[in-house]
Amino acid sequence: MFFIGVDLGTSSVKILVMDQSGHIQKTVTKDYPLYFPKPLWSEQNPQDWLEQSLLGIKEAISELDASKIKAISFSGQMHGLVGLDAHDNVIRPAILWNDQRSTTETDYLNEEIGRDALTRYTGNIAFPGFTAPKLLWLKHHEPEHFSRLKKIMLPKDYLAYKLSGAFATDYADASGALYLDVAGRKWSEQMLSILDIDASQLPALYEAYEPIGTLSEEVKAFLGLTHDVAVVIGSGDQACAAVGGGVVSPGRCALSLGTSGVVFVHSDTFIKDPNDGLHAFCHANGAYHLMGCMLSAAGSLKWWVEGILKGVDYTHIMDEASDAVIENDLFFLPYLMGERSPHNDPNARGVFWGLNLTHTQGDMTRSVVEGVSFALRDSFEIIKALGQPVDEIRINGGGSKNDFWCQMIADVLDTRVVRLATDAGPAYGAAILAAVGAGAFKSVTEACDQLIMTTEAFMPNPENVILYDKKYHKFAKLYPHFKTLWAAEELPL
Ligand code: XUL
Repeated sequence: MFFIGVDLGTSSVKILVMDQSGHIQKTVTKDYPLYFPKPLWSEQNPQDWLEQSLLGIKEAISELDASKIKAISFSGQMHGLVGLDAHDNVIRPAILWNDQRSTTETDYLNEEIGRDALTRYTGNIAFPGFTAPKLLWLKHHEPEHFSRLKKIMLPKDYLAYKLSGAFATDYADASGALYLDVAGRKWSEQMLSILDIDASQLPALYEAYEPIGTLSEEVKAFLGLTHDVAVVIGSGDQACAAVGGGVVSPGRCALSLGTSGVVFVHSDTFIKDPNDGLHAFCHANGAYHLMGCMLSAAGSLKWWVEGILKGVDYTHIMDEASDAVIENDLFFLPYLMGERSPHNDPNARGVFWGLNLTHTQGDMTRSVVEGVSFALRDSFEIIKALGQPVDEIRINGGGSKNDFWCQMIADVLDTRVVRLATDAGPAYGAAILAAVGAGAFKSVTEACDQLIMTTEAFMPNPENVILYDKKYHKFAKLYPHFKTLWAAEELPL
């Protein structure tokens, strides 16, 4: 039996075909354009997603025995706004998760509706990336589009709709919209009224591993399939990455060192950070999760190595960094695009702090990697303070390929870090959800227990744990000082 996972990313769609023992049979990646029509805007055409996904699926199954394909499921970039009109036409390009145009609407939600009320209704506060402020932006700035909205959906839900005809979403991805009552797993009536929309415009809610229908006849004909293939709704990319890493039970934490950086823990029950530093969302396994998402993780290192040093030899540059000492009194604040978790501060900026004449390129690279690791610790500290146990960190993303960085994460967070035997990201999690939806496994947990293996482990080095702990506490004092400068209209020079 084969199961297809489709990961609808921001620069490309990745299609992965997995067999029942978890082996990857084929992966295909197809790119599509990302548009920045104005500063802070970020958009894509849903039609591009659909075309490239269908071409990619066709290519992925072309050399396989297609009669063995049992189910397909999706992972998707979260929070994006896709709107269809009464004829199912896309009304305007999708407004994506990293679009920052709706800061006024975000302030309105957080300040005037109020953080307490939002938290009561949804479990979370507003961020410009979330879907609800984007809907308000559309209402204020493009009322002609807002009034034509008949179906409001998230990116991967558009693919599921076009492939199956079922208008559906899942609780985990819907949590990032800010109109789901996360604890109650239902749409929030109060939020629908604040946003001036009604439930008929929203998809039916499912667990991420539930089937919503089968591939349509038209799609089957395009793919050359003659049998029914179950369509399982799937989830947002972070929940799918957690499933793909087996982070579906207490004690494990998924840590992603991609462009953005994420710490993600499963929780059996709904739990939230009283200071709103972390997102409190449903998980793709039917439970809940806490997530801290920083915006520039491996993105900070890429900026430093490729944009500033113009060096492409990462190995050499990281070796120089590992030769520098921890006690060099040099700090980097990695807020190159503002920050989401835990500060929620679009005004924050990157800073090197403490430079002196003895510092070298290696010291500066080390401070960039440390700054990202310390910023992840900011979210990790909140997870620990909430009493969530973490015995093991399962690391993924581009930065996790570097041993020095993995060891640093183990030392900074004083927790064992492991790599995954199959590090295929969210598409792998989506394929697992497809397998669960098709009945190949009883539950997401059972599937993960059987399919997911770990490889190398990085154990915390007790001496470094002490040194980093001291340095982290100095790092943590810097943000509150700079915050006031960034908030001031003009720097007090
Ligand atoms: C999660 C988030 C990103 C996007 C794009 O909250 O914003 O993971 O889903 O990958």
